Amino acid sequence: MADDKSDLVSRTVAFRQWRFSIREVILGVLAILGVFCFILFAGLYGKKSSDLDATTSKLTAATTQQCTGKSCFETHAHLEEFLNNSNAPCDNFYQFACGSFKSARKLDPGRDVYKDVFQELQQNNEAALTDILSGSLPRYLNQSSAERKVKAFYSSCLDDFHKEQVKATPLIQKVVPLLGGSFILDQSWNGNGWNFQDALSKTQTDLYVDALYATRTRVDQTNSSQNIIAIFPGGAGRYMRWSDYTSTSTRSVKLQGDYKKFMTTVATLLARDAHVSDSRVTDRIGTFVDDAYEVESKIATFASNTRYSRDAFSHSQKVTLDQLKQSFPEIDWTMQLSYLFNEAGVTGSTKVVEPYPTYISNLTAMIRNLDSDQAVKNRKLNNYLMWRVLEVYVQDLSWEYMHANRQVYVDKYGPANFLGTQKYCFMLAKHYFDIALSSLYVYTNFEKKNKDKVTDITDTVKTAIEEMLTSNTWMDQGTKDYAIAKMKGSSYKIGYPEFMEDESKVDAMYAKLEINPKDFFSNLIACNQQHRREWNRRLLLGEDRTEWIFNAWTTNMAVYWYWDEVIAPAGILQFPMYTYDMPHYYTFGAIGSLFGQFIHHLIDDRGRRWDKGGVLMKAKNGWWSNQTTENFDKAAQCVANIYNNVTQGPYYSDNGNEVTVDVDGDKYAGKAMTITTGIRLAYNAYKAWQKTHGTDPYPPGLKYTPEQLFFIAHAQVFCYNRDPVWDYILTAFLRRSRVNEETRVNIPLQELPEFSQAFGCQASDNMVPDNRCTYY
Ligand SMILES: *[C@@H]1O[C@H](CO)[C@@H](O)[C@H](O)[C@H]1NC(C)=O
Ligand SMILES: *[C@@H]1O[C@H](CO)[C@@H](O)[C@H](O)[C@H]1NC(C)=O
Ligand SMILES: *[C@@H]1O[C@H](CO)[C@@H](O)[C@H](O)[C@H]1NC(C)=O
Ligand SMILES: *[C@@H]1O[C@H](CO)[C@@H](O)[C@H](O)[C@H]1NC(C)=O
Ligand SMILES: *[C@@H]1O[C@H](CO)[C@@H](O)[C@H](O)[C@H]1NC(C)=O
Ligand SMILES: *[C@@H]1O[C@H](CO)[C@@H](O)[C@H](O)[C@H]1NC(C)=O
Repeated sequence: MADDKSDLVSRTVAFRQWRFSIREVILGVLAILGVFCFILFAGLYGKKSSDLDATTSKLTAATTQQCTGKSCFETHAHLEEFLNNSNAPCDNFYQFACGSFKSARKLDPGRDVYKDVFQELQQNNEAALTDILSGSLPRYLNQSSAERKVKAFYSSCLDDFHKEQVKATPLIQKVVPLLGGSFILDQSWNGNGWNFQDALSKTQTDLYVDALYATRTRVDQTNSSQNIIAIFPGGAGRYMRWSDYTSTSTRSVKLQGDYKKFMTTVATLLARDAHVSDSRVTDRIGTFVDDAYEVESKIATFASNTRYSRDAFSHSQKVTLDQLKQSFPEIDWTMQLSYLFNEAGVTGSTKVVEPYPTYISNLTAMIRNLDSDQAVKNRKLNNYLMWRVLEVYVQDLSWEYMHANRQVYVDKYGPANFLGTQKYCFMLAKHYFDIALSSLYVYTNFEKKNKDKVTDITDTVKTAIEEMLTSNTWMDQGTKDYAIAKMKGSSYKIGYPEFMEDESKVDAMYAKLEINPKDFFSNLIACNQQHRREWNRRLLLGEDRTEWIFNAWTTNMAVYWYWDEVIAPAGILQFPMYTYDMPHYYTFGAIGSLFGQFIHHLIDDRGRRWDKGGVLMKAKNGWWSNQTTENFDKAAQCVANIYNNVTQGPYYSDNGNEVTVDVDGDKYAGKAMTITTGIRLAYNAYKAWQKTHGTDPYPPGLKYTPEQLFFIAHAQVFCYNRDPVWDYILTAFLRRSRVNEETRVNIPLQELPEFSQAFGCQASDNMVPDNRCTYY
């Protein structure tokens, strides 16, 4: 496995913004997947322009009334704010639609590295959540309500006064007994009779620290309707990469010193707070640091060499817990996992998977050989577990502990990038109370009509895709039939799950969680138990396709192929993407083209790999026939040639030089086709909608046709302003999967004759290419 611990971070909401809890890591992966899915092919092709109803691009007073509503004016104002008329639409459409964004959304140097429309949505949502957390109780005053709990949790976390008062006392009182005492704090502690298995189970489960390994539930790949326990690598500190422990480079040696200083500082504070003042405490702290570091560096050595086993989930590779215990007796696997999964009926005959098979043998060998003297071995393990717990909880104690943590961060990374207590507590609240907060977000910030009326868009886009499939020539009949069936079987998750409207259902999910507004540390421990119940539930329940992989406030849209679904949470269904009362010429362009993209993605060159039920197929073509694949490859080559020709920039590299970035057209073609098709689908859907509903009212003085507004709305989703160096790094680094926004807007629109027609672009204009690729 690479030197990447993202899957190994346990209860880790750290202060760096991009280090998230495990659940967020998983969601992050999905989100990236979602972004990936932004792919979509499209239909670069040449639909004859006679298909287009030329007359509709002329506005007539008879079909268009003037609007009086707030959202229509808001839409208009938003649109005008970013437009820049000094750029001609047929010359560079992105610069026309977004040319004023940079002056409208200036970067504050030293504070912002970028601004874009999605970031604005996200910031709105964060502000709304913060208001919820710190506001009064708008909804229900029941003492046992989830709303009360999340707010009490948040305020307990913000209660610096109390944290200063108690310092590490809660940890000393609640955690040390779980670990069977502590070598640092107790001069009579000598390792004899210490129960390692018990201390390990409490560390891993009650304290939710992945000290020696990480237990996760995963979909069982041999039967996707059930979940199975998987044991992953774990352990080692969050500031050290595995290679840092043993490397002798100057940088690593400095890191090792900084890290040990951090350990020493924390242990010294802990001894002070436990009122330990015997003469040998300093020696014990030295031993503590050496022991913990020794175990960590040993884990780092074999963890960095362990490799993922592709067939870990096959029947022959699964083992029962008793077998595991027999082969690797240093850890009582049956006891450990039946303790964690105490409600899911886990026993010695429960089968588990080891995705990194050498890890467990190396780990147990390490424990076996740690020392020939059992008491010394116990001491080392006790010190190691104690350190893992301290490092994970160090930010939850009083100011000096937090400061030690910040110090090691600055030692390692240089600049002091701290979130501050408020943001930290905000992250914890989002992490532990995602469902309660989702439901409150929906209640306070979301109009149900958005969820209900967005079907205007989703239904018409789905119809448009069926029509497009029926008439296309590159798919043979068998593949077409399959694609249509797959589309029909797919589902949308829009807004939020229904149960969130019912507060008693949400409350019931937190029924066993007790929160004390005056005791933050106990709340953390209680939240761990809540997690444990959740893991048990998941394991028992198996696959649950009603589950939502996003929180309601998330601003992503995604396709999840395994469940054959497209997800658009409430967080993205807001102005300027979509509200039920915004004009349709705008919303079809903005959110409609994203829906088009994601829905089409279910059946495109990536979606072909998942069958109708969401099972990942072995064949590279998936359910596409060879003929369809061959036709697709030809079309994709044409698209690749276009993108291979694109040069982006100039950018400025960090030494101030002007540089340009080429597009990797061969890698990007599939995604490009998806994007273009998405726009076309939304456009066709809009025309169909308009035919039956007419054109929405216009604000007075607006001089664009509905078709033009559709394209402007689409482009304005991608307006951005980015720090030039960052812009360069991002574009250059992600060259295979991403193009800059200007390319992303301009090239697909060049490929669409509908666009040229709407703006009356001439053959000589930039936005009209010499040749278009044909696809659908
Ligand atoms: C509009 O675009 C022109 C040409 O690119 C540029 O010089 C001008 O600053 C832009 N206007 C605004 C308000 O950003
Ligand atoms: C508060 O919630 C509990 C659990 O849902 C319920 O049993 C009780 O009746 C509620 N009390 C009030 C006053 O609504
Ligand atoms: C898959 O798992 C489910 C739930 O445990 C079970 O009912 C079903 O029989 C299993 N299917 C196969 C093919 O093993
Ligand atoms: C880890 O285990 C593998 C296979 O059992 C073995 O080849 C390797 O030497 C071990 N590595 C260490 C550091 O113990
Ligand atoms: C389709 O192509 C694959 C690999 O290119 C080949 O193995 C397979 O036999 C082909 N199928 C048909 C029906 O021609
Ligand atoms: C790439 O650019 C060259 C030079 O501008 C042009 O002649 C050629 O037609 C372009 N190729 C494609 C596929 O657009």
